[in-house]
Parts: sequence; structure tokens; C-alpha cells
Amino acid sequence: MAVHKSWLCLIVVLAIMSCKKRTTSICSNDIALFSFSNFPIGAAVDDLLLQNDSNYQKVFTKQFNSATAENIFKPAYLHPEENLYNWADADELITFCRNNNMRVHGHTLIWHQQNPAWMNEFQGSKAEWEAMMKLHIVSIVRYYSHRIFSWDVVNEAFNEDGSLRDNIWLQHIGPSYIEKAFKYAHEANPEAKLFYNDYGLETNPTKLNAVIRFFNTLKLKGVTIDGIGLQMHINIKYSQSNMIEQVIQAVANQNYLVHLSEVDISLNPLSKEYQLNDKDLEAQAQLMAKIVRTYKNIPKHLQFGITFWGISDNYSWIRSYFNRVDYPLLFDENFKPKPIYCNLIDAL
Ligand code: G3I
Repeated sequence: MAVHKSWLCLIVVLAIMSCKKRTTSICSNDIALFSFSNFPIGAAVDDLLLQNDSNYQKVFTKQFNSATAENIFKPAYLHPEENLYNWADADELITFCRNNNMRVHGHTLIWHQQNPAWMNEFQGSKAEWEAMMKLHIVSIVRYYSHRIFSWDVVNEAFNEDGSLRDNIWLQHIGPSYIEKAFKYAHEANPEAKLFYNDYGLETNPTKLNAVIRFFNTLKLKGVTIDGIGLQMHINIKYSQSNMIEQVIQAVANQNYLVHLSEVDISLNPLSKEYQLNDKDLEAQAQLMAKIVRTYKNIPKHLQFGITFWGISDNYSWIRSYFNRVDYPLLFDENFKPKPIYCNLIDAL
């Protein structure tokens, strides 16, 4: 009987240990996320939250080794007046990230949103618009040439039907604005990795093919374009689709660096009344694992990294932008890791 009891004890102890091991190695956030990964794991970061929410700061610095400023590198913030650059906030963020051993990815030089009024209202000939765009790009890329080694040069320039989006740059410079933007950025810092960044390529083959065709043509002309940012604002309804695998593979097949640049996985894409539930959290976690496994299959030298568009659900852009309840990120409102975080570590 005594022997029987000690065996029983041993079994219980082993069971507890194995449980602990599983929680610690798979889902505790005691160990940094990035330490499981062979490529950088990043988050979009908001400078004000970093200053004002100590939990946000703690999780950001502990878990990630790459950062993209969610807003303050955009033209409206960095270049608010024609003859004025606001370096201070961005400088502070870069210093903070570098002190915490993080890479900083620059987002974004040319876009149709978050431009300052002076830029939207600029009056001038085509040559003057080109000169203005050049000065904007060169000033920023050169100023950061020792601290930022990758840039989203152009963001979201394509429509869903594969044509070029109607924006101030297309209107005043014409389709060559994209090629010129990449040339100016390369001139300003030949070392920097230059990206085109866009959303929805994983659901729209027409847009994907147009983007790849366009940049392959530029590359053939000798323009430096190193990578493509697949934003990946996706949702759990995609879980049955293999388009995500195809798009990651398609971009890698063309020898571009692949940055999964703004990942979040919505649980409530139709903006309905919504009750959080385990089934959806599990679907989110499984989709994450599928994405990571696909990403790990592309050649290592093309794995620029995976960046999440935020850290905790409560601060996700989705909640404010769409004014809906959603849970798209790795951490919950209390900065506790969610199943998606656990599956991510498991798949890395
Ligand atoms: O600047 C004002 C600030 O003065 C004010 O205090 C604050 C109060 O809410 O609003 C501020 O502006 C907001 C800004 O975020 C900073 O918080 C804008 O209204 C709001 O529209 C802006 O949203 C950003 C959005 O881009 C703009 O389109 C989101 O934070 C940011 O996550 C989002 O990021 C984009 C990527 O750059 C490109 N890909 C899509 C992605 C999601 O939309």
C-alpha cells in the first residue's frame, strides 16, 4: 500500500510538473516572444501610450525586438509645415527603442492619408511637386540614415482593381511618382531597405498581381525596391482560405523581402454586437499559427519580420476607427497573453 501511495504521489508530481512546463514554455509571458523567433517580432507603438501606461511600456519592451511608430513618422507629424520638421517626438521614440535593443522600421514616407494640410494644398507645376516630394523624402531618410535602416517608401498606392489610387501624388506627378519616390529614398540612404506596403493583397489576386508586376518592372529598370509589406489586417473568417499562404509565397518567389507589417486578426469583422468566446479565440490562434508556419517556409534571407499593429486589444486602432468591439491582438485589456500569443510562440 505504501509503495502504491508513493507511485501515486510521483504520478501527481510529474503531472503537475508537465502542466507547469507546458504553461511556462508555451504560454507564460515570462520569456520574451522574440526570443523564440529567428526573425524580428515587432509591434506598432504609440508614443503617448508608451509614456502614460506603464503596463503597455513593460510588455512592449519585454516582448518585441522591432518597432514601427503607429503614427508619428507619418508626414502630418514629421513634416507639419513646408519648412518645418518635427523631429523631437520621433527622435525620442527611436532613442527609447534603441536603448531597448529594438529595430525601428520607418512608416511611412508617401501615403494618401495623414498628410499635412500644406502638402495637400501645395500649388505648383509637375516639376515643383517632384521637387517638393524629393525634399520631403530626402530630408527624412537622410536625417535618420544612421538610425533607421528600412522604410515603407510608398503606402497603399493601388486600388482593388489593380489600378493606381487617385491621390495627390498621382494627380500632380503622374504614375512615375512611385518610381521617383524609391529613387529619392535610395539616393538619401543607399543602405536602407525600401518597401512598398499595402493591405488586402491576401484576398485580392488582381491587386496582388498588379503590385508584383509593377514593382518587377521597376526592378528591371534598376530601381531599388527591396521588399513588400503585407499588412495583414485580417479576420477569423479567413481561416479556411489558403490565399494567405499563396500571397506570402508569391511575394517571396519574386525575391522580395517579406514583412508581415501590420498584423491583426479581427474577431468581429462585420461590426455586429459581439460576445467574446473561446471558439473565436481559438480560431484566431489557429490562423496565427498557420501564418507563422507559412512564413517560416520562405527562405530565411527574405524573412524581414512579423509586426503586429498594436499590443493589447483595448488600444487597437480597430476599436476607435470602426467604433466596434473587437479583440484583434496578442494581449487582452489587462496585458495578459491570449491563445493567439500562445500559438504564435508554439509555431515560431
Ligand atoms: O492627431 C489627433 C490627436 O491630436 C488627437 O489627440 C487624437 C484624439 O483621438 O486624434 C489624433 O489623430 C488620430 C491618430 O490616429 C492618432 O491617434 C486620428 O484621428 C486617427 O485617424 C489616426 O488613426 C490612425 C490611422 O492609421 C489613420 O488612417 C491609426 O492610429 C493607425 O493605426 C492607422 O494605421 C494605418 C497604417 O498607417 C497603414 N495601414 C492601415 C493602418 C490602419 O488603418
